[in-house]
Amino acid sequence: RMDFWIVAVISYFCGCFNGAVIVSKYILRDDVRNHGSGNAGLTNFYRTFGGPLTFVVILTDVLKAVVAILIAVKIGGGYDPRIMPDFPLDGATVAYYVVLFKYWAGLFCLLGHMFPCMFHFKGGKGILSGGTIAIMIDWRIALVVWGGFLILAVLTRYVSLGSVWAGASFPVATWFVYQDWVITLLGLLLGGLVVYMHRANIKRLLSGTENKFSLRKKK
Ligand code: G3P
Repeated sequence: RMDFWIVAVISYFCGCFNGAVIVSKYILRDDVRNHGSGNAGLTNFYRTFGGPLTFVVILTDVLKAVVAILIAVKIGGGYDPRIMPDFPLDGATVAYYVVLFKYWAGLFCLLGHMFPCMFHFKGGKGILSGGTIAIMIDWRIALVVWGGFLILAVLTRYVSLGSVWAGASFPVATWFVYQDWVITLLGLLLGGLVVYMHRANIKRLLSGTENKFSLRKKK
């Protein structure tokens, strides 16, 4: 199936538009990856620079995920019976493929965000873009992932604790909503990647040395 690979490549390159790297490297001329946790994500950008450019980081990471998913929906839901006459085109099948394509695109978009080829494969941990992908997939999944993230991050001030929740709860919520093994497997890969990217944070959380998030300002 060619269209799966087309979506994979497009989504990967969308993901490569890492807001924290682009804004810090090209606008501030001071790569965020040389500061703080070394992560190229919203948390570390805000921790290091703060200021209104933070909104440009948010916009970039949100928009690229939205674009990747919209393209996937267009391609995944756009079966033309003239091109694929033997493809069963009933509504339920197309709806299933649309969901499948969203997960697939989300996975590759996150891979691009985490391992951007034009930035030496050093990107972020996929919370903002992954959270956007969750919203684009299903509001119930978004509610579980974002609800838990916000409660944990606000109550403990450990952003990464909320993030680990987001990654771990994503495949579970996926199973409850779709009850499909292929989709859940993709959800597991997505969530697993997010948790894996937080392995250093998990160690710090366990040893009580993790950074606490603060709104107070920096340099
Ligand atoms: O957005 C990623 C967050 O969960 C942790 O970021 O920079 O504290 O490792 P950081």
